Amino acid sequence: MTCLMGLDISTTGAKALIIDDSGAVIASANTPQPISQPKPLWSEQNPADWWDGISASIRKALADSGLCGRDIDAIGLTGQMHGLVLLDSYGEVLRPAILWNDQRTQAQCDAMTEAIGADRLLELTGNPAVTGFTAPKLLWVRDNEPDIYAKIDQILLPKDYIRYMLSTDYATDLAGASGTSLLNVAERAWSDEVLAALKIPREWLPPVHEGTDFTATVSGEAADLTGLKNGTPIVGGGGDQAAGAIGMGCVSPDKIGVTVGTSGVVFAPLRSYAYEPEGRLHAFCHAVPDTWHFMGVMLSAAGSLQWYKDCFAPDLDFDRLLAEADGVPAGSDGLFFLPYLTGERTPHPDPLARGAFIGITSRHSRGHMTRAVLEGVAFGLKDSFTLIDQAGLPEQIEVRISGGGAKSPVWQGIIADVLAAPLVNVNTTEGGAFGAAILASVAAGVFDDAASACEAMIQTGDTVAVGKDAAAYAERYEIYRSLYPTLKDTFSTL
Ligand code: XUL
Repeated sequence: MTCLMGLDISTTGAKALIIDDSGAVIASANTPQPISQPKPLWSEQNPADWWDGISASIRKALADSGLCGRDIDAIGLTGQMHGLVLLDSYGEVLRPAILWNDQRTQAQCDAMTEAIGADRLLELTGNPAVTGFTAPKLLWVRDNEPDIYAKIDQILLPKDYIRYMLSTDYATDLAGASGTSLLNVAERAWSDEVLAALKIPREWLPPVHEGTDFTATVSGEAADLTGLKNGTPIVGGGGDQAAGAIGMGCVSPDKIGVTVGTSGVVFAPLRSYAYEPEGRLHAFCHAVPDTWHFMGVMLSAAGSLQWYKDCFAPDLDFDRLLAEADGVPAGSDGLFFLPYLTGERTPHPDPLARGAFIGITSRHSRGHMTRAVLEGVAFGLKDSFTLIDQAGLPEQIEVRISGGGAKSPVWQGIIADVLAAPLVNVNTTEGGAFGAAILASVAAGVFDDAASACEAMIQTGDTVAVGKDAAAYAERYEIYRSLYPTLKDTFSTL
C-alpha cells in the first residue's frame, strides 16, 4: 500500500492528512491558527505559528494512524494563496506574513498598473493588480518598511515556507505563483517584464514547478521534529483553490467547483490559457500540469456566517441557527445582506466595500437575518458563476460543491436555487489537503495523471436539485446586483 500525506496551511488551521492509494483517509489532524488584524484592512499571521502547528499536526496524524514516517511515500503541500513571507539571507522571517485577505495595498496596485499598463498586466499575468495578491504587498513593504525591504533575500508563499522548513529548499508551484502578479501565466514562468517594471530582483523568487513535480526532500532536522522519514519526497502541490478543486475532481472544463470556505470560490478548469478581457475573473495556472483555470473569489463566504454567529448568536450552535433560517421564506421577507465584510474581489475588486443588512423592518427576526446572510453569500457566488458562464462554459457541466459551509443542507439548497444549477456532493471532505495528497500520488507513480487519480479516488454522492425557489431568487438577484453600485460611494466615504 502507498501512503500519501497532504499538508494544508489554511487561514484557520494547519492540517496534516494521510490517505492510502484508494483515497481512503487514514488520519487527519488539524491545529488551529491565530490571526491578527492589527489595523483596519490588515490581516497577518506569524509563519512560526504555521510551522509549530503543522509539525504538531504531522506528529498527531502519524500517531493516530499507527504508521511511521517511513510509511509515507510522498508529501503534497497546499495552503492559503497570495500571502507574503519575507526571509533574510539567514533564512529568518523578517516580519509577520501579510495574508490574502489583507487590503492595505490599493496605492501599490495603482502604482503597478501605472508602471506596467493595465492591458499589458492583464495579458501577462491573467489578472489586474489585486490588493490581496503578493506583488503589491511587497511594494507596500518597500514603501512603508524600507529597513525590512533592504534585508529581503527570499520571498515565499505560506505553504512554501513549510516546504522550506521541512527541507531547507526554496521552491513554489505554478498555481500558487499565479496569485503573485509576478508570473507569466500563459508561459508558466516568472515574468521578467513584470519583475523589471517593478524593480524586483529575480533572485528573490524561488524556482517554479508543476504540481506533480518533485521539489525537495525532508531534512534530517525536520524528520527528528515531525517523525517523518529523512529524504521523504515533497511535490510541488498547489494553492488551496487549485488543490481543493483537484480534491473534488475538478480537473476538466466540464467540472465546475463551488467552495464555501472562509472565502467563497467558483472554479472552472481550462485546457488552454485565457483571460477575462476586463479582468473580472482570476485566470491562473491549475495545479494539474499544462492546464489553467478561471476563478471568482468572494472574500467572506462562510467567514460572513462565522462573523454573524460570533456577534449575534455566540451561544447557539450552527444547526440551531440554520434551522431558524430554514423556517423563513426564500428572500427573507425583503431583507438583504451584502457579504463584503473584508472588502471584495469578484465581481467588485474594492477593498473599501463594506457589509450591510438592507431592508430591515420590525417584522424581521434573527431567522430572517441568518437567512439573509446565507442568501447574500449565494448571490455573491452567482456573481462569479455568471461571469464564468459569460466567459464560456461547455454545453454540459457538473457543479461540484465543497467547503465547511457547504455541509449545511439548508445552505446547499439556497445555493442550488440561486445558481439555478444542481449541486453534486463528493465523498471527499478534506479539501485542499486531499488534492495535495492526490498530486503526491501522481508523483509517486501510483497514477499516470491527476485525472486518473481523481477517477479512482473520488466518488460523487448526493445531488441537490434546483428547487421551487429558483424563479423567486432570479428576481431577487437583480435587486442584490443593484445594491453595491448604489452604496459604493458611501462605502468609500465610510
Ligand atoms: C484565492 C484566495 C483564497 C485564499 C484563502 O485567490 O485568496 O481562497 O487562498 O483560502
